[in-house]
Amino acid sequence: MARRLLIAGNWKLHKTVEEAVALAGDIAAGLMRDDLDVLVIPGFLSLEPVALSLSASPVLVGGQNLFWEDQGAYTGEVSGPMLKACKAEQVIIAHSERRLYFNETEKTAAKRVQAALKAGLTPLLCVGETLGEREADQTDGVLESQLAGGLAGLKPAQAEKLIIAYEPVWAIGTGQTATEEQANRAHAFIRAWLGACFGKQVANQCRILYGGSVKPENAAGLMRQKEIDGALVGGASLQAESFLGIIEAA
Ligand code: PGA
Repeated sequence: MARRLLIAGNWKLHKTVEEAVALAGDIAAGLMRDDLDVLVIPGFLSLEPVALSLSASPVLVGGQNLFWEDQGAYTGEVSGPMLKACKAEQVIIAHSERRLYFNETEKTAAKRVQAALKAGLTPLLCVGETLGEREADQTDGVLESQLAGGLAGLKPAQAEKLIIAYEPVWAIGTGQTATEEQANRAHAFIRAWLGACFGKQVANQCRILYGGSVKPENAAGLMRQKEIDGALVGGASLQAESFLGIIEAA
């Protein structure tokens, strides 16, 4: 069974509500393909306005993070049920920027994955090595420990719903994209790991996105790779033209 491509735009800490709704509108208006999934991931404040503005469009909306408790005295946090109520369907978990700047760990990633599933959200778990780890030939080991940590305690029926994003840290926001071979090889490693842990069917079904300086110029080559099922796009998702260019090229 062929996996359907997913092109996701992570808007990170960009765009006011008004700007986010305008960008979402431009993306929806320019979208000419229905043979792949498109997901936009605005900041929390823009989530519901963007989702409402896209209600007549096939473009999906997701959150950039979530906390593992549904509610309580946790100032500044956002929960799964809150995201779900804003019409989010997916949620990014353990993006490398969360790991780097906000001390997120494999343990907290696992709690967030469980919380997302409990809320009926699709977890989009990010994994990827730093430049130092790649140069020290530790890529596979890093991926393995991030997968084992973040997916700890998951049953195969739950794992079926996952999306994994392979995002080499050295490629994020640097303009330095992984080569098609480097990306495809890492994706194959991730899929083999999923197969060993959750069975072949889950591994074949699970979409693995590549993220790290994806642009209209390199999207076609990356998306042609057998193990690459889509892209998680940062910088190039902030303008409709470049995001649509990636979608067209995919
Ligand atoms: P980038 O970001 O496309 O700007 O490299 C990707 C990401 O962090 O998801």
